[in-house]
Amino acid sequence: MFASVFVLILGLCHCSQESNQSHLGQPQLFGPSEALVKRVVEFNCKLLTYPKNESILLQLYKEDNHDNLLSEYTSLAGEVATFPMIIKVNHEGNLECVAKAQNNSKIGPTVSNTHHLKVIEPVKGAQLVVTSGPVEFFEGRTLELQCKLTAGNHVSYTWLLNGQPVSQSPHHRATDNQLLINRTTAADSGSYRCVATNTFNNTQVFRSNSSEVVITVKDVVSNPDISFSVLKEDSHYYFAVFTCRSIKGMPPVTFSLYNRTELVANTTVDARNATFRVPLVLGHLGMLQCQANNGDQVVYSEWIPLEVVPVGGPVVLHYDSDTGENYAVIGLRLYCKAARGTHPRYQWFLNKTLLNDSGSFYYVQHQPPEQSIVLLSVGRSSAGTYHCEVSDSFDSSTTISSKRKYLDKEVVNRLPVLVVVVIFGCFTFLVLLVSVCCWAGVVFRRRQYGEKSLLSLEMQRVIAAYEGELDVSQYDDDADVVNTARGGEFDQASEASVDEWPQIGRKKKTLEDEAVEEH
Ligand SMILES: *[C@@H]1O[C@H](CO)[C@@H](O)[C@H](O)[C@H]1NC(C)=O
Ligand SMILES: *[C@@H]1O[C@H](CO)[C@@H](O)[C@H](O)[C@H]1NC(C)=O
Ligand SMILES: *[C@@H]1O[C@H](CO)[C@@H](O)[C@H](O)[C@H]1NC(C)=O
Ligand SMILES: *[C@@H]1O[C@H](CO)[C@@H](O)[C@H](O)[C@H]1NC(C)=O
Ligand SMILES: *[C@@H]1O[C@H](CO)[C@@H](O)[C@H](O)[C@H]1NC(C)=O
Ligand SMILES: *[C@@H]1O[C@H](CO)[C@@H](O)[C@H](O)[C@H]1NC(C)=O
Ligand SMILES: *[C@@H]1O[C@H](CO)[C@@H](O)[C@H](O)[C@H]1NC(C)=O
Ligand SMILES: *[C@@H]1O[C@H](CO)[C@@H](O)[C@H](O)[C@H]1NC(C)=O
Ligand SMILES: *[C@@H]1O[C@H](CO)[C@@H](O)[C@H](O)[C@H]1NC(C)=O
Repeated sequence: MFASVFVLILGLCHCSQESNQSHLGQPQLFGPSEALVKRVVEFNCKLLTYPKNESILLQLYKEDNHDNLLSEYTSLAGEVATFPMIIKVNHEGNLECVAKAQNNSKIGPTVSNTHHLKVIEPVKGAQLVVTSGPVEFFEGRTLELQCKLTAGNHVSYTWLLNGQPVSQSPHHRATDNQLLINRTTAADSGSYRCVATNTFNNTQVFRSNSSEVVITVKDVVSNPDISFSVLKEDSHYYFAVFTCRSIKGMPPVTFSLYNRTELVANTTVDARNATFRVPLVLGHLGMLQCQANNGDQVVYSEWIPLEVVPVGGPVVLHYDSDTGENYAVIGLRLYCKAARGTHPRYQWFLNKTLLNDSGSFYYVQHQPPEQSIVLLSVGRSSAGTYHCEVSDSFDSSTTISSKRKYLDKEVVNRLPVLVVVVIFGCFTFLVLLVSVCCWAGVVFRRRQYGEKSLLSLEMQRVIAAYEGELDVSQYDDDADVVNTARGGEFDQASEASVDEWPQIGRKKKTLEDEAVEEH
C-alpha cells in the first residue's frame, strides 16, 4: 500500500519534472524465487529510463526494512545492476530495488516492484522428546511427543509407530511438531520415531529421522474371576485349588486370595492367572475373594463361598420329550440330579456301557453342580436301559446310581394313549360330578324355597303388627337379597369343582409315572 502510494507520488513528480528531462524510471528487480541457505545467489536490477551523465545508485532492501541494506551497485552508463548474495534465513521475504541519482538531489528516487524470496534451510538433527513424562505408564493417560530440530524451516512432520504412520483417530492429533494422544490404550505402545522433511524447488527433499523412543502403555489388570476345584491326596488330605484369572492386564500381576478377615495367600506372576492350594476340611468354610494389582489399582473378584459337600441322597433320573409330526416322540431329554453335592461328576450309561460326551444319537450336557442332561434322538440305536451315576469329582470312591429306565420308541410313544385314557376318565368323572351336583342343587333349592316362603309370610305378619302398614317396594328388595344370596352359593359350588382340577392333574401324573416305572 505504502509502496503503491510512493510509486504514485513518484509518478506525479515524474510528470512535473518531465520537462527537465531528468527523471528516473521504475527499476525492475528479478532473480530466483526460492533459494537454499548459505548458497550464493544473484539478483538483478535494471532501469529502463534514466538521465544521461548521472551516476545512479541501485540498492537492494527488504520491503519492510530499509535500514538494513542488503547490497548496492553504482550504475554509470545505465548497465544492469547485479547483487550477489550469500543467502541467510532472514533474507526470506519481499525484496525491492531502490534507484537514486547519486549527485543530483533534484531527481527523486524510485522503487521497483517487490520480489518474493523463499529461503530453504535443510532439516537437520531431528530429536524425539516425550514432553508428557515417563515412557512407561498406564492406559488412559495423555501422551505428548515433540519433534525437535537443530535446523530447518518450512518443515513437515510425519510420525511413525513401529515403522508405520501413526493411525488417525479422534484421540490422535498431530499439530506442527507435536503429537498428542488422548486416552492412550495398550495399542499405542511401541517404538515411536518422527521424520522431518522439507523440499527445495520441488525437486530436492531433505529428511531427518529422529532416533526411536519406546513407549509402553500398560493396561490395567481387569477384575479377576475366581473359581476353585477340590483335590484329594493320600486318601484323606483335601485341598482347594483356587484359580484367579484376569482377561487383560500387563504382567507382572500380584494376585492375593482373601477370606473375610485376612490374607490367605499371595503371589506375583508373569501371567494373568494364578493358582493357590489351600488345605481343606469338608463343609462350609466361608467366603473367599481374589484381588489383582499390576501397579495402578487393586481390582477385586466377586466373593464365592468355599463350600465342599460330598454327593449324597437319591439320584433322580427323569425325562421329558419333544414331539414331531403326528404327535410321535422324536427326541428325549434325560435329566440326572443328585440331592446333595457341590462337586459332582455325572456319568451316563446305556445298557451298562458308559456314554461319552456325544455319540451318533446323543449329546451330553453337563450343568454342574445342579444336573446333567442327555439329549437323545429316538430310534433303534438309542433303545435300551439308561441310568446315571454320580460321584465326587475329587473322590471317586463313593458312587451313587439312579434307577434304571428302559426307553424305546414304543415306550415313549405309548404316553399319549395313556394321557388320552386318563383325560377321558377324568372327563367322564367330571360329567358325572356335574350331573350329581345339578340334581342335588335342584332338590335342595325346591326344599329351601318352600321354607323361605313360609318364613317371609311370618315376617310380614310381624312387621304389619308393628307398623300397621307395609311398604311394597321394601318387600321387593328383600326378595332380591334372597335371590342374590342363593346365586352366591351356587357360584361357590362351581368354584369348588374347578379347584379339584390340579388334583386330577396330579393323579394323572402319578398314573404316568407308574406306567413308566413298570417297564
Ligand atoms: C556529459 O559528460 C561529458 C564528459 O564527461 C561531456 O562532454 C558532455 O557534454 C556531458 N553531456 C551532458 C548532456 O551534460
Ligand atoms: C558525485 O559525487 C561524489 C561525491 O559525493 C563524487 O566523488 C563523484 O565524483 C561525483 N560523480 C559525478 C559523476 O559527479
Ligand atoms: C483431548 O481431550 C481434550 C479434553 O477432553 C479435548 O478437548 C481434546 O480435543 C482431545 N484431543 C484429542 C486429540 O483427542
Ligand atoms: C529447479 O527445478 C528446475 C526443474 O524443475 C530446474 O530446471 C532448476 O535448475 C532447479 N533450480 C535449482 C536452483 O536447482
Ligand atoms: C529414515 O527413515 C526412512 C524410513 O522412514 C529410512 O528409509 C531411512 O533410511 C532413514 N534414514 C536414516 C538416516 O535413518
Ligand atoms: C481366614 O483364614 C484364616 C487362615 O487361613 C483362618 O484362620 C480364619 O479363620 C479365616 N477366617 C474366616 C472368616 O474364614
Ligand atoms: C504377600 O503379602 C505379604 C503381606 O502383605 C507381603 O509382605 C508380600 O510381599 C506379598 N508377597 C507378594 C509376592 O506379593
Ligand atoms: C495360567 O494359565 C495357563 C493356561 O491356562 C497355564 O498354562 C499356566 O500354568 C497358568 N499360570 C499360573 C501361574 O497358574
Ligand atoms: C440294549 O439292550 C436292549 C435289550 O435289553 C437291546 O434291545 C438294545 O438294542 C440294546 N441297546 C444298545 C444300544 O446296545
